[in-house]
Amino acid sequence: MTRSEGDTWDLASSVGITATMVAAGRAMASADPRGLIHDPFAAPLVRAVGIDFLTQALDGELDLSVFPGSDPERAQAMIDVMAVRTRFFDDHLLASTAAGVRQVVILASGLDARAYRIDWPEGTVVYEIDQPEVIAFKTQTLADLGADPTATRRTVAIDLREDWPAALQAAGFDASQPTAWLVEGLLIYLPPDAQDLLFDLITDQSAPGSTVGTEFAPGILDFDANQAREMSEPLRERGFDVDMSSLVYAGQRHHALEYLRGKGWQVTGSPSDELFETFRLAVPVAEARGPLGEIVYISATLAG
Ligand SMILES: C[S@@+](CC[C@H](N)C(=O)[O-])C[C@H]1O[C@@H](n2cnc3c(N)ncnc32)[C@H](O)[C@@H]1O
Repeated sequence: MTRSEGDTWDLASSVGITATMVAAGRAMASADPRGLIHDPFAAPLVRAVGIDFLTQALDGELDLSVFPGSDPERAQAMIDVMAVRTRFFDDHLLASTAAGVRQVVILASGLDARAYRIDWPEGTVVYEIDQPEVIAFKTQTLADLGADPTATRRTVAIDLREDWPAALQAAGFDASQPTAWLVEGLLIYLPPDAQDLLFDLITDQSAPGSTVGTEFAPGILDFDANQAREMSEPLRERGFDVDMSSLVYAGQRHHALEYLRGKGWQVTGSPSDELFETFRLAVPVAEARGPLGEIVYISATLAG
């Protein structure tokens, strides 16, 4: 299946399944005794979606030796990548609120449970934007688990290719206040012009003191669809049919870091190997990176 204008999904199909995959990574990273992250909601959310392959992964029931070139270090690296990514964005958001920001917008929130697990300062409002089925599933599942948001949580169930700024405003968003924007795990699923438009719209709605957390995967520029298909073949044989090459928009696009800088943001980029070192984790071998290459994690601030 390839992408099309206006395509939709739930958490077990198309782009939605990627939200369940990264949540499974967070669940496994949360079980790691080194304790870089703690997301107690990731595992129950993934189990509730009910994809056998991912549930088995959580239960330690998958034989990792079936994957090409897999060894324990590489399997650990895949989990560590999610730990590093989650920790980077947690720290980014906490630095934003420590600087006084009380309005947070999580775009493409998927199964992100930050609105339920972060110790937000009093008065923080967290907006979550994603497709309607994704929003509804997470809200209901966490309510069934008896989880309460740790901030005022407002959901905006809309496709990001539609007029999401109007929907965000209708939900109470105040563009005159500084905002901490989170764009995690989204850009590769947007066409290049939609990525630019997203940052244009974010900039338009950002008061001084606003921040953006996002990441850029340089490998998307010359994405190797064959390598991606090859890597997913053993998964398909086990009933987990995710062809990343049909979900991402490969090819030339602006580097998010340079694009944000061009729009007046003060930007820093942290390559993932650097973060592995910062967090004292073993830096993965280059071959373990896969077709998206070495991710650069980005933190941007709009000067006051
Ligand atoms: C890899 S997941 C990341 C989810 C979450 N940010 C995280 O890191 O756990 C990609 C998410 O992007 C959302 N997404 C992708 N394109 C979208 C669009 N056009 N409109 C709304 N959501 C979109 C998907 O529904 C999915 O939840």
